[in-house]
Amino acid sequence: MAEKGKNGTPMLDELEKGPWPSFVSEIKRTAEKSEQCGALLRLLERSYEEKIGHWKHGGIVGVMGYGGGVIGRYNDLQEEFPEIAHFHTLRVNMPSGWFYTSDALRTICDIWERHGSGLTNMHGSTGDIILLGTTTDELEPTFAELTQAGFDLGGSGSDMRTPSCCVGPARCEWACYDTLHLTNDLTHHFQDELHRPAFPYKFKVKCAGCPNDCVASIARADMSIIGTWRDQIKIDQAEVKAAEDAGLNIQRDVCNNCPTKCIEWDGTELKIDDENCVKCMHCINTMPKALSPGDDRGATILLGAKAPIVEGALLSSVLIPFIKIEPPYDEIKDLIERIWDFWGEHGKNRERVGEFMQRVGLGNFLEQIEVEPVPEMIAHPRENPYVFYEEYFEEEEEEVEA
Ligand code: HEM
Ligand code: HEM
Ligand code: SF4
Ligand code: SF4
Repeated sequence: MAEKGKNGTPMLDELEKGPWPSFVSEIKRTAEKSEQCGALLRLLERSYEEKIGHWKHGGIVGVMGYGGGVIGRYNDLQEEFPEIAHFHTLRVNMPSGWFYTSDALRTICDIWERHGSGLTNMHGSTGDIILLGTTTDELEPTFAELTQAGFDLGGSGSDMRTPSCCVGPARCEWACYDTLHLTNDLTHHFQDELHRPAFPYKFKVKCAGCPNDCVASIARADMSIIGTWRDQIKIDQAEVKAAEDAGLNIQRDVCNNCPTKCIEWDGTELKIDDENCVKCMHCINTMPKALSPGDDRGATILLGAKAPIVEGALLSSVLIPFIKIEPPYDEIKDLIERIWDFWGEHGKNRERVGEFMQRVGLGNFLEQIEVEPVPEMIAHPRENPYVFYEEYFEEEEEEVEA
């Protein structure tokens, strides 16, 4: 740690202790090649001392032709830290499911060593490869090299953000549709909406292959596309028996934990009343060799998740209980466009689609995007009697009286 004295970062140095991989050690290693990293560490140390951030408010930079993809940042101690006076972040669209070849990663590293700080975030919470720290002058040259190598920027601002997905059928027996292909297809289809912000606010799509939801789509995407099935769970009775012989208490750990109590086990045969199964995945998760999702697969589409600001955090709620997911995915694309049309026209400035839905009411929302209301959309019916009726009901009644 020859850098210690030079950087004068006693507080950060503490974070090189302990078993977890230390981001401080990583930045110090990168600092051997990049003077921006040494400055970044010293600025961070300063923030640790003063307990405040030292980045100026906002920053609007980018590349020609796009309205998003780069997050501009300037430090507020420009004279003291000139090396990182500019410290912009590029979001680079990752491959679906974060599958790379080492060639692809080497390509990105070479580009970033030439143009940026050498620091990255693998990956941003939305999914993008994050290239952390460069100057305004370097943005176009970096972008030019990235596109030359087949990479494009991801989303930022009031646009369609970079869609992401779980590893799906590439590595998981439970995937009910091809999450990787759908994610890639939607990303390509909606490039314009991704690169040139045209919405009231951001809009995220995440694709999970089954209700385990390994990309947390229900909490972190305005549109959550979650794989499911509508026929019977496939049961291999011999494997059920083998699971019990291997020590699984099927009655206690599977049947009793089924949320709808629709599984029975008599010691020789496992029976599932699939009509009452809510596809929670528990039994399948517990006995992966014995049970698997049915053959009639598709997804549930949910809408509206967002973090707390402004009106409170929301999880997505059911919009389409079941939809087949097959290329070219026209039905999903049409649905997305109908949502964008209505929300784009009537959404308030910086109003997420989840808040918009609450403001205009689910009934109006569904009518405008041409989706029929069904019981699966609600957890329970309303408990208050403040029900709005359409004009034509009253007219009908008057006609009856007359
Ligand atoms: C021409 C005169 C008036 C008009 C046009 C009028 C109109 C309204 C309207 C539109 C509402 C809201 C109803 C709703 O949102 O469901 C309301 C509520 C209310 N008004 Fe009036 N109002 C009038 C006179 C008065 C007077 C004189 C009083 C009291 C002495 C009064 C007390 C209230 C109260 C307490 C509420 C709230 C009721 C509730 O909590 O549900 N209003 N009024
Ligand atoms: C000692 C006298 C009073 C008592 C103990 C009293 C008590 C109450 C109570 C317990 C409620 C129900 C609140 C709730 O459900 O949240 C209420 C509501 C109401 N009171 Fe009174 N009240 C009194 C005087 C008055 C007077 C003098 C008026 C009008 C001139 C009035 C107008 C109302 C109205 C309009 C509401 C409905 C408000 C709403 O739901 O938003 N009250 N009152
Ligand atoms: S969400 Fe389901 S399909 Fe996707 S990786 Fe997780 S368990 Fe597998
Ligand atoms: S998936 Fe869930 S609801 Fe369906 S049978 Fe298994 S435990 Fe019960």
